[in-house]
Amino acid sequence: MPDLLKPFPAGGTFNRRGWHALAHLPTAGGAPFWADFQILRQPLVFTRRVEQHLGRMARTVIGGQPQVLLLSAGALESVLLDRDRVFSSKGGWTSLMGELFPRGLLLRDGDEHRHHRRLLLPSMKREVLQGYLQRMEVPVRSTVQQWVQRAELPGLGLPAMRHLALSRAADLLLALHDPSEVRSAEHDFGALVEASTAMLRLPLIGRRWARGLNARTRLVAQLKSLTAARRAHPGPDLLSQLVQARDEEGRRLQDDEVVDHLVFLMMAAHDTTASALTSALCLLAQHPEWQHRLRLEVFQEDPKQDLMPRMAARQQMGWVIREVLRLNPPVAFLQRQTLASVELEGVRLPSGALLTLAPLHVQRDARWWPDPDSFRPERFRASELPHPFAWAPFGGGAHRCLGQHLADAQMRLVLGELLLQARWSLPLGLSPQWRHAPITHPTQGGPLLLQPL
Ligand code: HEM
Repeated sequence: MPDLLKPFPAGGTFNRRGWHALAHLPTAGGAPFWADFQILRQPLVFTRRVEQHLGRMARTVIGGQPQVLLLSAGALESVLLDRDRVFSSKGGWTSLMGELFPRGLLLRDGDEHRHHRRLLLPSMKREVLQGYLQRMEVPVRSTVQQWVQRAELPGLGLPAMRHLALSRAADLLLALHDPSEVRSAEHDFGALVEASTAMLRLPLIGRRWARGLNARTRLVAQLKSLTAARRAHPGPDLLSQLVQARDEEGRRLQDDEVVDHLVFLMMAAHDTTASALTSALCLLAQHPEWQHRLRLEVFQEDPKQDLMPRMAARQQMGWVIREVLRLNPPVAFLQRQTLASVELEGVRLPSGALLTLAPLHVQRDARWWPDPDSFRPERFRASELPHPFAWAPFGGGAHRCLGQHLADAQMRLVLGELLLQARWSLPLGLSPQWRHAPITHPTQGGPLLLQPL
């Protein structure tokens, strides 16, 4: 194995050879944790400054290791499509997620990844999605009623969106209904996601990293016993589909593999959707004219029409969702590692180099999006993108988000219910600020104000 490819343990020593092997790239800060801090605090200010002064490819140190920061749509396209199979998702994501979400789909590469993805794909087929959506309709409606009765949602709506997304994921994926079990899963998934940004990865009691590892242990135990129960008595949930799935040779997933997929899927499904919904609510609160346009669209529907085609027909809502995900992609940065020496955008990168790709930067690039920081959903009236990877909130290529259509349908359902029941706004003078790591979320905690229609 080339030296740069050696797995770098959490808290491991800095890879000096890797840093020198990238010496032909301009340097965007080589001090430990400096770039991490910029990315946590003000990622766009940081990446725009890098592009302005150094260009769209630079070396830096992120997560205690040398990284190549890639800021162009072309780099996103080449790396994610990975035509020569030289970019590893597993290698890229291991330092952030390896210990917390081992063997999830994103942490597998090549033939092994294809094999597992094929086993998971049937659980996201159109007919299955239709069933998921129908199961969500009534609980979403009653949750929205409760929100409207409360008249305000703290934390700009994020805790409420997290609770909704997690309880729906717990139902669709696991058929988990007991409120105390859902609450404990919510707490543990929260700790896992938080832990993925812990800079100090030592198992000190009470620290973010240690809390994440403990949460994982509890979740694995909970999911193992659920897996055994669903093998004995399958239900309508995704877990039951996974335990029954067979490949071409009739081989099925082992219990440990099922649990690894579930931990990753639950995390991938709920926090991203909650982030996107929170951004949508805030942006629609700041742009009441768009809230009004969407409300008219939803009021004009035939409520007797089937749910899937009804959701799909919400054209202006589709533009708003795309614009929300452009401005505030829940996953603002993606990780990969080179498996061989490669030429990217005319620059040679050594084998084993860690890459940080930046959908957030590309999706706010004035080259592709005029007036890039403004909320202008009608820019999606034209279905053609200015560049195939100028909009990539769900990634692309072999690892493209498995839950994209589910997430889109769920957002349409929740926004539609809210539009039918309430008008919402922010307190006067409150302008939300955002952090983009580990998942995009608002930094301050003002209320989102709901007024019944
Ligand atoms: C708005 C909501 C969502 C966003 C923005 C989002 C974003 C993403 C992105 C960017 C990736 C690719 C990461 C990479 O290539 O490094 C990804 C992968 C993935 N997502 Fe999502 N996601 C969302 C919702 C969901 C949902 C609801 C599910 C499951 C039900 C899900 C399951 C997955 C899985 C399993 C992968 C890994 C796919 C693979 O490696 O083959 N996601 N997601």
